[in-house]
Amino acid sequence: MAYHRAVLLRGARQLITLRGPSEPRRGPALRELNIIPDGAVLIRNGVVVEVGPARRIENLAITRNAREIDANGRVVCPGFVDSHTHLICGPPRLADYEMRLAGSTYEEIAKAGGGILQSVRAIRKTPARALVHQGAETLGGFIRHGTTTVEAKSGYGLDEANEKKILKAIAETGGTRVDLVATYLGAHVTPPEWAGRADQYIDWIITEAMPCIQKLGLAEFADIYCERGAFSLAQARRYLNAATKCGLRLKIHAEQFSRLGGARLAAELGATSADHLEYISDDDVRTLAASGTIATLLPGAVLHLGLSRYAPARALIDAGAAVALATDFNPGTSPSCSMPMMLSLACAQMRLLPAEAIAAATINGAWACGRADRCGSIEVGKNADLVVFNASDYREIPYYFGVNPVAMTIKRGTIVYDARRGYVAKPD
Ligand code: NIG
Ligand code: FE
Repeated sequence: MAYHRAVLLRGARQLITLRGPSEPRRGPALRELNIIPDGAVLIRNGVVVEVGPARRIENLAITRNAREIDANGRVVCPGFVDSHTHLICGPPRLADYEMRLAGSTYEEIAKAGGGILQSVRAIRKTPARALVHQGAETLGGFIRHGTTTVEAKSGYGLDEANEKKILKAIAETGGTRVDLVATYLGAHVTPPEWAGRADQYIDWIITEAMPCIQKLGLAEFADIYCERGAFSLAQARRYLNAATKCGLRLKIHAEQFSRLGGARLAAELGATSADHLEYISDDDVRTLAASGTIATLLPGAVLHLGLSRYAPARALIDAGAAVALATDFNPGTSPSCSMPMMLSLACAQMRLLPAEAIAAATINGAWACGRADRCGSIEVGKNADLVVFNASDYREIPYYFGVNPVAMTIKRGTIVYDARRGYVAKPD
């Protein structure tokens, strides 16, 4: 590897390290941010080599020639890990939005041929190059809001060529500015060419599409939308079992509008995460808490849909479940790339403490997308993915809402966003 000059980040009034045991944070551990007052981070080749109080780090011999990044008395956290997005999703669905505001529900719009299928039609018409371009533009917004790792799902192609087109675009879009984790969401809804034949569509995915995607190495995870109007619990079981056989790790969209049993299934099958969970029961809370499955909560979708039923985050945390927060960025239910906004919602609407919200959006997000070995906390050996906030106390991050508190985003030791200069790194 080429030799790079070391980088010293100094002047962090609160360095929120989140260092701790190598496991998802549960219960009281979710509140342990492991803060170093007046902290510094020494970085070499994009990786953290020292973390500690400034007076110790600044005295190390190797620090002498380092290039400096001055946090100027502000809060520094690990970069956000957004573990649930539909990054490549085509244009906004503004007609759906107005229909909802006029009183139609998300499910009614979907039944009338709008919703997800509207985005599928748009994506199928979009050339691969344009998808990469759109993805890169969208990622600029994530980077400006402090996100350094993004999970991205397919699910708007639904036939083999178009799902591959999206997953290849995901692979090309990340580059050095942000890390992407690809998820195959073949079972988002039944596409028009399989209308009325959802079981056969799942059969086709299992025998043809999924093995091909796995062989090409285009995805690490498989996800399914288990919901009225999408796929049943039995179909989810078949799909996820096949995914495991294919070597893909599991995620599920579960109990968003109704309780079909997806959360319980996720725990039973050892899924990495069960996402949404607005309609889980007390029993499901206990089941998830006793499992290794991360409960990924997506408050942006509840807000944007104008609903009031948020997932029972407090009960999940108090029961000992590992909770993560993500944006669910998508054109139908959560057109937001702002993790700080999700933190504000998590605190105000789901009663998380600011410390819990930060841990859920960083280290537990990293566990939810299989990246905890390299990001989610500021620890020796991990990537130097850092965010400098315009704040002198971490609690300000969720406290102020509807504003972007990010001063600087740093990806593997390189500044990729600097608010003062209005700079955002260009795609590679
Ligand atoms: O996570 N509910 C299913 N999937 C997305 C919405 C996708 C869309 O409406 O385009 C979600 O909310
Ligand atoms: Fe989603």
